[in-house]
Amino acid sequence: MKENKFEFEYEVYNDISELSEKDAWLLTEARAVTEQAYAPYSNFYVGAVAMLENGEVVAGTNQENASYPVGICAERVLLGSVATLHPNVPVKSIAISYNSDEVKSDHPISPCGMCRQALLEYETRTKEPIRLILSGQEGKVYIIKTASFLLPFAFTKDELL
Ligand code: THU
Repeated sequence: MKENKFEFEYEVYNDISELSEKDAWLLTEARAVTEQAYAPYSNFYVGAVAMLENGEVVAGTNQENASYPVGICAERVLLGSVATLHPNVPVKSIAISYNSDEVKSDHPISPCGMCRQALLEYETRTKEPIRLILSGQEGKVYIIKTASFLLPFAFTKDELL
């Protein structure tokens, strides 16, 4: 018997002022775009903004529905738009932020399991890692080098061929 271990490193910043100018700009966009979320059921407004390798910027927000499971997270709204508007263009970084009527937005959130799967598939499609910049409207910022760190033992298309 052999025990394996999975661990990864990520960067922790005290606040946005410690980020590079580019990352701070992207996070500011993600914080602002939460305004466009449609979340009348959870009152939890998520914004995700991607910086593509060709310099284009694409945003997504969560879009809920009276039939709750129909709702889509900001990250998957974003990836669908990126893939449609800029096919095959790798995503360099995605900043993700949120706002809420119920809780304070003072710490990072990370993508749900379904979005982790979708992010991983986008990395596989474009063969480039996607950096994640995670933060609330204020407070600490986490930077994760590749979305794949968030989904060890992922199920991928390699199993289907
Ligand atoms: N949500 C996102 O859009 N992204 C996340 O990373 C976490 C959760 C949305 C789904 C739902 O509309 C609301 O936030 C509350 O779960």
